[in-house]
Amino acid sequence: MPEPMPAAFPPAFLWGAATSAYQIEGAVREDGRTPSIWDTFSHTPGKTAGGDTGDTAVDHYHRYRDDVALMADLGLNAYRFSVSWSRVQPTGRGPAVQRGLDFYRRLVDELLDKGIKPALTLYHWDLPQELEDAGGWPERETAYRFAEYAGIVGAALGDRVEQWMTLNEPWCSAFLGYGSGVHAPGRTDHAAALRAAHHLNLAHGLATTALRSVMPARNSVAVSLNTAVVRPLSRRPEDLLAARKIDDLSGGVFHGPILHGAYPERLFEATASVTDWSHVQDGDLAAIHQPLDALGLNYYNPTLVSAADADARGPRSDGHGESDFSPWPAADDVAFHQSPGERTEMGWTVDPTGLYDMIMRYSREAPGLQLFITENGAAYDDKPDSDGRVHDPERVAYLNGHLSAVHRAIADGADVRGYYLWSLLDNFEWAYGYEKRFGGVYVDYVTLERTPKSSALWYGEAARTGTLPPVETAGRTS
Ligand code: FCB
Repeated sequence: MPEPMPAAFPPAFLWGAATSAYQIEGAVREDGRTPSIWDTFSHTPGKTAGGDTGDTAVDHYHRYRDDVALMADLGLNAYRFSVSWSRVQPTGRGPAVQRGLDFYRRLVDELLDKGIKPALTLYHWDLPQELEDAGGWPERETAYRFAEYAGIVGAALGDRVEQWMTLNEPWCSAFLGYGSGVHAPGRTDHAAALRAAHHLNLAHGLATTALRSVMPARNSVAVSLNTAVVRPLSRRPEDLLAARKIDDLSGGVFHGPILHGAYPERLFEATASVTDWSHVQDGDLAAIHQPLDALGLNYYNPTLVSAADADARGPRSDGHGESDFSPWPAADDVAFHQSPGERTEMGWTVDPTGLYDMIMRYSREAPGLQLFITENGAAYDDKPDSDGRVHDPERVAYLNGHLSAVHRAIADGADVRGYYLWSLLDNFEWAYGYEKRFGGVYVDYVTLERTPKSSALWYGEAARTGTLPPVETAGRTS
């Protein structure tokens, strides 16, 4: 029997890798950069595993040329990175520091030179500390500051970066940053978290308008969301209600205003004990509801919930770090459960059907928008073998499963234009410090030497051929 033909992806499909500034750059005091909330948080004892910080991270600020060359060698044709706000605008307001912007100009030129499409995220969680000191995302002013910053970066790089994302995972910024406090700035105040969510939405809308006013019309503007793929434990009505609540609190709270110009009514009712939403001002929803070109979807694992019967309480933090405080406002009536199946080093269940479901859901929710998987990947306990190679068959299987789900969604009519592996390199995994390795490329944290894992070689072959290679060959290709 001849082998079945491997499934081909569309010819223009983007095969990328993703990173974020604080997780890889290091050089935190160079060229005028000032602390962001993540510098402060990681330097606060007890906040990150092992007291790890991004001070050096993987030194990408100095090694970006090598890292771009690595991507080119692998055969990737796209790269998603984020800009450090406090490198560009150290106080979070006022004129830009050109030396900070110059780093991104050099990075983008290097990418373009190697035929790699840059995709720029303006905000991947590193708010300038001065803006947090002035109240942070729970304050409306932060949204105006973000729009100003967006205009600066748009004007500087809009001529050579076509793909723009305003925010990465505003859910994490609002609910892990101000709710459970496992992320910077580490506050635990549900009312503040909901205000933060609204001001992040407003920031997205205002930034989209600011970008459009300074950039060529051909450029694409998007936001990257990590709406939970919520599965109810049973079909009992109370479990279905619990699932709907978590869907509203992770998805509707953002895509409601961003895509449809309104918050779900249910959300107001569900959170009435926490906030009266009086921070939403006239005109805000129109400002948030801007036409977009694309939508970024970040997916790692599904979320299994039920009503919180006395006997059904699960971990409240839902795999997003340990805290006595739930990230979820007004959700004491919801219990979280471990989804069945194999798990990654994060304890996250491997379930590619969740990615398929997320894509198909947003195909319906956002018709006409191009979809990008802006993050997907897995942490495993990778180690070099005696000959220095890093074999990570679990990650190859993870990627194969999830890329197959993307392919199936495309075959079923979804307009998915690209996929960004999280992450290009092992890096600073927030509160987990350097303990969790998500990279396609292994980083020795002593020498900072980079070694592509077998998964990166497998993924590179997929990128070069436009089809998924057999998983057995992983590690023997290149
Ligand atoms: C996402 C973040 C990214 C990384 C991955 C594992 O939520 O956007 O920075 O931490 O999870």
